[in-house]
This record gives sequence, C-alpha cells and structure tokens, in this order.
Amino acid sequence: MKEKKNKKKADLKAVAGAFKGQHVQFLEEGGFIGSALPYIYSPDDAANNVKKTLRFIEKKIIHIDEEEEKLFRILLAGDNLKAKQVIRELQHEHIRILSIYDEIKDIVLNNGFYLKDKKAKDRFAGLVEEMVEFFLNHARKEDERLFPLFVGRNIKINIDFQ
Ligand SMILES: [Fe+2]
Repeated sequence: MKEKKNKKKADLKAVAGAFKGQHVQFLEEGGFIGSALPYIYSPDDAANNVKKTLRFIEKKIIHIDEEEEKLFRILLAGDNLKAKQVIRELQHEHIRILSIYDEIKDIVLNNGFYLKDKKAKDRFAGLVEEMVEFFLNHARKEDERLFPLFVGRNIKINIDFQ
C-alpha cells in the first residue's frame, strides 16, 4: 500500500515580508545606541542605560530566533537549493551575533548593571557597537540576498511532514 504523505505547501512571502519590516524598524532605531551608550559612563544613570541597551539588543536576538524557527527551518526542509545555500551563510552570521551577545551578557552577569569599572564599561560599549553594526550589515544581506528569492514569484516550498 502506498504510504500517504501529509504534504503541505508553505507560502513564505508573507513571513519574509514581516521580517523585512522588522529590519526597517531596526535601521530606524539604529541611532539609539549612539545616544544611549555614552550614558553608561554617567554616575547617575549608568544601570538604567545598560538595561535599556540590553533590552535593545535582546530584541535582535528574539528576531534571529524567530527567523531560524519560522523561515530558515522551513526552507531548509524544502527543495530550493539556492535558498538553502544563502541560509547556511546567514546561519554562520547568526552564530557570530549570538556569540557577541553571550559576551555582552557575561559582562553584565559578572559586573552587575552598574558595570563596576571603566574596563568593563569600555568592553561592554565596544561589544554592543560591534554587534549592532554586524547585525545591521547582516540584515542588509538578508534584504538583498534572501528576501528577493520570494519577491515577484509565489514561492511554494514542498515540505513533507512525517
Ligand atoms: Fe533578520
């Protein structure tokens, strides 16, 4: 007897569009880091600005997790080789972003939100700037290389659900 497969077609255009919209928002918010980071050196408001900065970059981490789950995982289970190749490259960049984030969080775990000394503040600020710059370039790459795969065509990926 022929095994009946539960085939499902995923229309990913709308999903990709939503992530692209978040990229636009992140670019608009990009100036936030420039205005908040100097205040981590302020004796009055350091902890508050460290918290705000962490919240700002955590939104990017959530975005990455959702992309992996709602877009990458589905495409990697599908039959579009070009999309898979682009995604493998983007996954490497996600790992880089997550590694920088781990270091940022480690500084706060070891120093508290006030960041004990200037060395910790300098390291925190340097890593946040590096992460945000890397993230924005990465988002641009997704805009230019991944999302055009969906534009102008109704990309349907065949997925076999077990
Ligand atoms: Fe993204």
